[in-house]
Amino acid sequence: MVEDSYLYFKDGLIILNGGTIEKVGAYQDLSSLVNNNLELLDYSGSLLTAGCIDTHVHFPQTPMIAAYGEHLLQWLNEYTFPTELKLKDKDFASSVAKMFLKTTLKAGTTTSVVYGTVFKDSVDAFFEESERLGTRMLCGKVWMDRNAPDGLLDTAQSAYDESKALIDRWHNNGRQKYVITPRFAPSCTGEQLQKAGDLYKEYPDVYIQTHLCENTGEIDWVKELFPERKSYTDVYDHYGLIGERAVFGHCVHFNEDDFKTLSEKRAAISHCPTYNLFLGSGLFDMEQAKRGKYPCLVGLGTDIGAGTSFCHLQTLNESYKISELLNHKLTAIQGYYLATLGGAQSIYLDDKIGSIAEGKEADIVVWDLQSTELIRYRMSFSKSLEEDLFTQLVMGDDRSVRATIVNGEVVYERDSGFYKE
Ligand code: GUN
Ligand code: ZN
Repeated sequence: MVEDSYLYFKDGLIILNGGTIEKVGAYQDLSSLVNNNLELLDYSGSLLTAGCIDTHVHFPQTPMIAAYGEHLLQWLNEYTFPTELKLKDKDFASSVAKMFLKTTLKAGTTTSVVYGTVFKDSVDAFFEESERLGTRMLCGKVWMDRNAPDGLLDTAQSAYDESKALIDRWHNNGRQKYVITPRFAPSCTGEQLQKAGDLYKEYPDVYIQTHLCENTGEIDWVKELFPERKSYTDVYDHYGLIGERAVFGHCVHFNEDDFKTLSEKRAAISHCPTYNLFLGSGLFDMEQAKRGKYPCLVGLGTDIGAGTSFCHLQTLNESYKISELLNHKLTAIQGYYLATLGGAQSIYLDDKIGSIAEGKEADIVVWDLQSTELIRYRMSFSKSLEEDLFTQLVMGDDRSVRATIVNGEVVYERDSGFYKE
């Protein structure tokens, strides 16, 4: 029963203790706990959910979102690499990190799995801003020792050493987590991928992320670069990069063997629908990934700047259309799950985030269900919660976010214009 898959309180109360959710339930059941020592925030008329989780995104690409006219490999050369070079300057990297995190929070996302640049200072800049805001974020320095402009190249050893230093500085420092980030097989030699695998083994709770099977030209290139391996997935498997807390972006052109490997090793896929369409890469088959012979963990990613929206409502809108093109169905409840608890499970953080539940961290979004005149009009004809949610998923966007609460603190409020600067 779909109704058994979620908890909904028409008139609810959430009691927070600092950054922790202490109680959640129907107002009438909990009203005796309300007292003068509690500060009451009244968001009557709005829907409160856990903050959304973005499992694949590039903060340095914020300045180049909406780059025109290229598919993946040309897009990287023409737009991405020149932009990422500019983040060598830490002041610029800090300004990009600030803009990225502000836009993320204003879009209703409170945790993201983020690519930095090859420059370690850019990762410091990102975590410094995340620490200031109190957000739970995951980020890492990109590794690239070939097939990129000279100014963006590191080496197997320097990538390893710098990442290790960043792990020691940031991993589990407050709410921050570290992600080892070899960009993708074409930009990393076998020696570098081996070092990434070594580092992943050394730290039992560190994350790893990369791109996999995005685009047919890219897949052919990987075959040329690693002729001895039987597939793109096998390249990463060979170097020990596939396991728990590993997140693979895209996996658009996947066969059963690929799903089998990720499923058996309990690694996650990040589905990035606006990217699938914007770079014309292809359509990710979520049905096969989640309910096929080899079910995989799947989270939702924006993949900014190859994706086109920071907001998971718009990301789900495109995911719904992709599922229609593949003759599957994505229900509103499945969509909200994918954007929140499903994402948290895919990154092994569902004990902390992803739902409004007792003992979890208080990352909460207040959604205005009537954020435009047309949405208000459409909602007046809605007959069920599921129809309400589907309308939001198709028609809503960052204007729907009335407030964002991070670690128990309001960091953004739409109507007053407040943001925790
Ligand atoms: N593959 C390698 N690098 C990238 C990137 O920055 N974005 C996307 N979408 N794919 C990549
Ligand atoms: Zn990406």
